Amino acid sequence: MNSLKNKSLVSINDFSPREIESILETAARFEEDPPGRLLSGRVIAALFFEPSTRTRLSFESAVKRLDGQIIGFAEAGSSSVSKGESLKDTIRTVSNYSDLIVMRHSIEGSARYASEISPVPIINAGDGANQHPTQTLLDLYSIKKTQGTLDGLNIFMVGDLKYGRTVHSLLIALSNYKTTFNFISPAELRMPDEYKIILDKKGLKYYEHDDFTEIISRADIVYMTRVQRERFSDPLEYEKVKNIYVLRNEMLENTKENLRILHPLPRVNEIEPEVDENPKAYYFEQALNGVFVRQAIITSILDLI
Ligand code: CP
Repeated sequence: MNSLKNKSLVSINDFSPREIESILETAARFEEDPPGRLLSGRVIAALFFEPSTRTRLSFESAVKRLDGQIIGFAEAGSSSVSKGESLKDTIRTVSNYSDLIVMRHSIEGSARYASEISPVPIINAGDGANQHPTQTLLDLYSIKKTQGTLDGLNIFMVGDLKYGRTVHSLLIALSNYKTTFNFISPAELRMPDEYKIILDKKGLKYYEHDDFTEIISRADIVYMTRVQRERFSDPLEYEKVKNIYVLRNEMLENTKENLRILHPLPRVNEIEPEVDENPKAYYFEQALNGVFVRQAIITSILDLI
């Protein structure tokens, strides 16, 4: 019995730890042995009301490599939303044309709302500062692939921990394992209390810092994030914090052998390009992993494996 059949993925909490393991196992199988034409005859809609490179194109690549069809738009301006059509009408219409809808939207809760009115499953590709669960699954896949385990790791999250939906979803997922968290951010961008409460309830340790230069030697994973200009209502507040953390090769000199640098991308200035050639840099491989993981999510929900 496939418990993921017809299930929407709006929050990482929608999938149990066992279901998450199953996605990671399927993705590993797909990476090792590409599964052919599993999506033949299926149509996936990708509705991107906010900009995206990796999420949109890795979904497209994932679908096309399995011989599926993909329809949709890359910006709201090219849809009838620009004429005032509601999200409800958009979802009900597009569900007539597709077997599953992938949606990115700036409003928190929009993906949950879509899942409540849609007759076909919804995959949240990011809703405002709330959640980005498919990114979390590919982050977990990347961590497991590079560390051999998800248990007992020291995870550093760096940058915009207040508005960063990727770190919010990842924290929730890693709270199911024996994880130690180090949160590195300026005071204005601290991890919100609601996420720290989750860790408190599970008895997991977390530490907050303004800087990580002196402590990076303890990290297994450093998860860098971009300070997101689009989440700030006051441009002066953004200017104050935008370049606060910049990772350089010299900072990686006395770090653990197994340390890997992750970043959901896009980066702006937070990782110097010199780090790209460092064997500890893993963010472009992480983006590739998104194809296998998204194939696993879609085929599991459509009950094709
Ligand atoms: N990681 C991520 O969500 O990247 P995009 O915004 O390019 O999709």
